[in-house]
Amino acid sequence: MAIHNRSHHNHALMSLNRLRKDKPVQGTLSCFKPDEQSVLCLSIMDCVDFLKTIPDNSIQLICIDPPYNLKLAGWDTYDNYIDWASLWIKEAYRVLSPKGSMVIFGGIQFRQEKSGDLIDIIHYIRNQTKFQLVNTIIWHYRNGMSAHRFFANRHEEAIWLVKTKDYYFDLDSVREPYSDKELELALKDKRLNPENTKKGKNPTNVWEIGRLNGNSKERVGHPTQKPVEIIDRFVKALSYSGSIVLDFFAGSGTVGRVCISEGRHCLMCDSDVSSIDYFNKHLDLMCELGQNPEYSSAGDVNEFFDMIHNKESKNEE
Ligand SMILES: C[S@@+](CC[C@H](N)C(=O)[O-])C[C@H]1O[C@@H](n2cnc3c(N)ncnc32)[C@H](O)[C@@H]1O
Repeated sequence: MAIHNRSHHNHALMSLNRLRKDKPVQGTLSCFKPDEQSVLCLSIMDCVDFLKTIPDNSIQLICIDPPYNLKLAGWDTYDNYIDWASLWIKEAYRVLSPKGSMVIFGGIQFRQEKSGDLIDIIHYIRNQTKFQLVNTIIWHYRNGMSAHRFFANRHEEAIWLVKTKDYYFDLDSVREPYSDKELELALKDKRLNPENTKKGKNPTNVWEIGRLNGNSKERVGHPTQKPVEIIDRFVKALSYSGSIVLDFFAGSGTVGRVCISEGRHCLMCDSDVSSIDYFNKHLDLMCELGQNPEYSSAGDVNEFFDMIHNKESKNEE
């Protein structure tokens, strides 16, 4: 089922939010003014069917957090994990642009009977596809469950894959500031380019970003919601303003939320209709934080590309 939204001519944002709270409309995404930067589409359907409707080489960044058969929820059950994953990996390769990137979140120690994990995906990708691995990012967090029979887990991973060596990467957009003392030392280091040093440091492939606790203000209710900060770093570094980002396991739509903030267009899909409510909660949170949640909503993939082409033609006029 695709979510159709025909409400491009809605009134002020606050009254829209009130309306959403008073009268939730099943199957309809909230929508704001018609002439804002980002176009978004959230379709409720199976990811492989959704991917088949997307043109070849059309996506700059695919950022996904797939199910791993861990039975975390009803959607987390597939009989032969890698057989199933191979279907969306093949389609993802087809839709990714030659300068594009794909990020896959996961863990390397979640294995249970019949489950998959990032090791299975990496093994499959290395042996059966033309994707190239650029980085494995270690997402380190200080908050997590305690353990008594093993070392308590404090990391998950994300792999960054590309189709060609000509991939887009904007390191400057995600550099981290040096402290005054670090900067002084770094500027004395002859191995470092002083121009780059002044812009800040490379955040490396180990990222310390807090996990969302049950009582985190960012939570919208999805059991495996990712923090905005980690998605934001990938979106900034691996896509550019006005490019297209795809998340075909959207969950709460964290990727869509970041795309609105960062001026990217976003295609999302999830098999669970609850994604719509979760995503509306993200929009409410953006309002509460004083962020602008305006975007144009497309009913399906065809309309999404039509809207983007129309915007591009208008800009060229
Ligand atoms: C790990 S969650 C994603 C959470 C998301 N990163 C967030 O920040 O909210 C995986 C999502 O994949 C969806 N899913 C599972 N199987 C699917 C399928 N075959 N097609 C589309 N979505 C699917 C589930 O409904 C679930 O919301």
